[in-house]
Amino acid sequence: MPGSRITALGRYQPSRVLTNDDLAGMVDTSDEWIRRRTGIATRRIAADTESVTDMAAAAAAEALAASGLRPSDIGMVTVATCTAVDRCPSTAAQVAGRLGIPAAVAYDLNNGCAGFCTALAAADHSLRAGAARHALVIGAEKMSAVTDWSDRGTCVLLGDGAGAAVLSAAEQDGIGPVVWGSDPTRADAVRLVDDWHPRFAQEGQTVFRWATGELPGIAREACRRAGITPADLAGVVTHQANLRIIEAVTRRLGLPEHVVIAKDVVDSGNTSAASVPLALSRLTESGELPPGGPVLLLAFGGGLSWAGQVVTCP
Ligand code: UT7
Repeated sequence: MPGSRITALGRYQPSRVLTNDDLAGMVDTSDEWIRRRTGIATRRIAADTESVTDMAAAAAAEALAASGLRPSDIGMVTVATCTAVDRCPSTAAQVAGRLGIPAAVAYDLNNGCAGFCTALAAADHSLRAGAARHALVIGAEKMSAVTDWSDRGTCVLLGDGAGAAVLSAAEQDGIGPVVWGSDPTRADAVRLVDDWHPRFAQEGQTVFRWATGELPGIAREACRRAGITPADLAGVVTHQANLRIIEAVTRRLGLPEHVVIAKDVVDSGNTSAASVPLALSRLTESGELPPGGPVLLLAFGGGLSWAGQVVTCP
């Protein structure tokens, strides 16, 4: 097959909404500070009993139903996550079991917040090589389980959820060449500190400066490799970490008015590897991103790593 394309999307978010005012009752912060510095208004928090596997399976079930495929058609399941508790069997293997997918290769991939775009590229490469015809690619995180709820610098940022895409081998290419990499000199800029209990920590300003400085060039390169310019895009879905980063990066790309910019961070906060498929799924379901349009996906995070590609909207 010359390529693959996304044929369906799904998502899942827990029902509990945590507002900025709720957080102001827990730590020394305010709705005004959080909105001004991050753009975030709310985030969803999973129940104690709700796992990464539960959320990944719910998003994947929605994507599979939307694709019209049978479980037995799926030959590959990958879950991008850095918060799954189970090491073996993998979250992906458990999702395959729950969805009745009988014989898929199933594995987890941890590339922090860049995980979904990395997994999408890896699945695309596998489908191109003929290793499977249909794949489920999922980003799922329970960030609330690795949040230090006494640290105002990070607890206001994070949320839980999952997003999923069905990827199918196709004559017409719908996944552009990936631009990916990592910078080990900034490896500690975003991390899960693990002494007794893993918790999210980051050097916020280091990441902020890196993202606003480097992402525009990475975005242009992804467009160049896809044979388009940023002005040809229908939409841009970056990792949803901070609205100020999203606005600075898209401003530097000089995008025309009609290009839809994902701003799901406002409602969902930073859901790490889930943020790109969550935002993409929401924008396609609402019709803001029409089928066929080229959309730039661009994610970054722990490592410090990044991955991005231009995809055709399902
Ligand atoms: O998903 C992984 C990728 N991560 C990112 O993309 C994160 C990138 N960085 C950022 O988004 C921003 O750096 C943050 C949102 C994390 C922080 O915003 P900032 O504008 O860089 O704030 P800061 O950390 O420099 O803190 C400024 C002040 C400090 O007070 P002093 O020292 O100036 O008195 C903080 O203690 O704001 C204080 N502060 C807060 N105040 C009220 C930090 N967090 C809060 C808070 N409420 N929640």
